[in-house]
Amino acid sequence: MRQLLVAGNWKMNGSLQNNQSLIESLKQNIATGLKAEMAICPPFIYLQQVSELLKGTVISWGGQNVSQNDQGAFTGEVATDMLVDFGCKYVIVGHSERRSLYRESDELVAQKFAKAQSAQLIPILCVGELLDEREAGETENVVKRQLEAVINLQGIGSLAQSVIAYEPVWAIGTGKTATPQQAQDVHAFIRGQIAQKDAGIAEKVQILYGGSVKGSNAAELFAMPDIDGGLIGGASLKADDFLTICQAAP
Ligand code: PGA
Repeated sequence: MRQLLVAGNWKMNGSLQNNQSLIESLKQNIATGLKAEMAICPPFIYLQQVSELLKGTVISWGGQNVSQNDQGAFTGEVATDMLVDFGCKYVIVGHSERRSLYRESDELVAQKFAKAQSAQLIPILCVGELLDEREAGETENVVKRQLEAVINLQGIGSLAQSVIAYEPVWAIGTGKTATPQQAQDVHAFIRGQIAQKDAGIAEKVQILYGGSVKGSNAAELFAMPDIDGGLIGGASLKADDFLTICQAAP
C-alpha cells in the first residue's frame, strides 16, 4: 500500500501575515490519524518562516522550483543546497507553469530532477498535457516523453526516490478537474510505462493528481487505485479546503 501525499503548491501567493494564520489553523485542526502525509511548497522567500512554523509538526515542506546549477553567478536562482539549508524535503520540478511561461524544456527539467536528488531532496516531477494535445489524442505521448527525459538522464532507479504528479494543464486553476477515470487512465499508463522497466519501482512510486482538486472532489480522485494523493494549488491557500482534501485520503 502506497502512502498518500497531499502537497500544497502556493505558487506566487502569500504574505507573512497570511502564511502565519494559514499554518496556525492547519496545525490546530490537523486530525489525528491522518492517512496522508501533508507538505507545503511556499515561495522561496517564505521558506524560513514556514520552516520555523512547521518544525516539529507532521507537515513537510519544499520548494516550487530549483536551479540545475550549483552556487555561482546565476542571478535570481536558488540552489538545491539552499533548499536543504531550510529543511526542505521536497522540490517541485517541471510544473507546467515553469514549462510554459519560462520555457523549461524536458531536458532542463530532467537536469533539475537530477540536481535535486544529488542533494537528497525528493523531486515532485510534474507531467501533463495541454488541452490541444489531449484533443489530438497525444496525452500518452506527451507524458511518456516528459517521463523519458528523466529516465534517459538519471535511469529508472532514480524514480524510486521521487514523486510524480500528473497535472493535465487544462485542469490547472481552471475549475475543470479531470474525471477520476480520466486521471486514473493516465496514472495507470504512467505506472505501466515504469513497470516495463522496473515493476518494483512502478509499484512503489507515488503518483499524485493535480488540477482543480477541491474538498468536494478529492475523495473520489484519491479512491482510484493509481492515484496516491494530490498536488494542490488554489485550494491549498485555504486551511479548511486543504484540510478537507488531506482528510479525503481513503
Ligand atoms: P490548482 O493548481 O489546484 O489551482 O488547479 C494545481 C497545480 O498547479 O499544482
